[in-house]
Amino acid sequence: MEPIADPTADPSIRIDSHLDGVRERSLADDVLDGLTRPFKELPPKHFYDARGAELFDRICELPEYYPTRAERAILTASAVELAELTGAAELVELGSGTAAKTRVLLDALHEAGTLRRYVPVDVTESMVRECAQMLTEEYPGLQVHGVIGDFERHLDQVPAAVGPRLVAFLGGTIGNFPPGSRRRFLRTIAGLLGPGDHLLMGTDLVKDPDVLEAAYDDSQGVTAEFNRNVLRVLNRELDANFDPDDFDHVARFDSEHEWIEMRLRARREHTTHVRALDLPVRFAAGEELRTEISAKFTPERLRGDLSAAGLQLVSWLTDPDELFALTLSRLTDTPAPATDTSGASS
Ligand SMILES: C[S@@+](CC[C@H](N)C(=O)[O-])C[C@H]1O[C@@H](n2cnc3c(N)ncnc32)[C@H](O)[C@@H]1O
Repeated sequence: MEPIADPTADPSIRIDSHLDGVRERSLADDVLDGLTRPFKELPPKHFYDARGAELFDRICELPEYYPTRAERAILTASAVELAELTGAAELVELGSGTAAKTRVLLDALHEAGTLRRYVPVDVTESMVRECAQMLTEEYPGLQVHGVIGDFERHLDQVPAAVGPRLVAFLGGTIGNFPPGSRRRFLRTIAGLLGPGDHLLMGTDLVKDPDVLEAAYDDSQGVTAEFNRNVLRVLNRELDANFDPDDFDHVARFDSEHEWIEMRLRARREHTTHVRALDLPVRFAAGEELRTEISAKFTPERLRGDLSAAGLQLVSWLTDPDELFALTLSRLTDTPAPATDTSGASS
């Protein structure tokens, strides 16, 4: 399908939207699939309507939510080195959100004089548009080519590189993929890279379960509201009649898989109707709906995942408390094919 290109007045901005009808279909498919299983589940991308994005920004400011602060500290400490190592002319960011931390990288690349274009990719339309507007004002001469789309479906719509490329996938979002699809997705990301290009990825690290659980169950209840927001999205988009107050927020560390699970637990037995799909959904009292996994990493796990995706580690960067890691990687060197010298004269 052709993207809907946006005729903006500003020649330094181009925005392509690939979500025409796709988001609704994907939500409907995920609800039909996930809410009719014996163990109910929805993928986390549906948290992020405008309200969900705003709640996520508030989560990033919470005292318990260390990942954003730790990742920002690593970026601040290593941005100049990253700019030197990558010489990037282009920054492609997957799940760019408000690009709050990205500015640290953009500053360093701008300062190094290599930066030409920023390509934010996000499902939340308002964020891509606002961010394009703000960044072209903040960085004179910067081109922004926004891609409003689902990074699981639309990475082939990322425009051809304008020079050495740095792909950033921050915030630990890679942890939302279960192990098999994580490796598959990393392989797709590797497809955005050529020789000389790099991937910069943020991953949360395995640590004390109390610290992890507090980060996903804050005392002000913002994460609980973020979790319940998916029910409001279903009510609005699919004419469902969930009462968010019928569900408790649950955040638990699964020590076998080393991931956090967020769930919504029904407070009472009830049946909800997803009217757009003509789908009744029964919840037993205490039944749980899984809304997110957030995998935590060790260096070995990450190296294994990168290697399975054809990537090799260039730098492993962490904060002084080793809460979070940023990794820079590139395509694995393939041995040069053996040259046939049989006919060569000496
Ligand atoms: C956890 S937030 C991280 C935001 C920002 N990168 C950061 O590090 O603070 C996840 C972001 O990814 C976006 N997102 C989630 N799933 C997506 C998908 N399947 N395709 C595109 N964007 C997605 C959300 O809209 C949100 O902006």
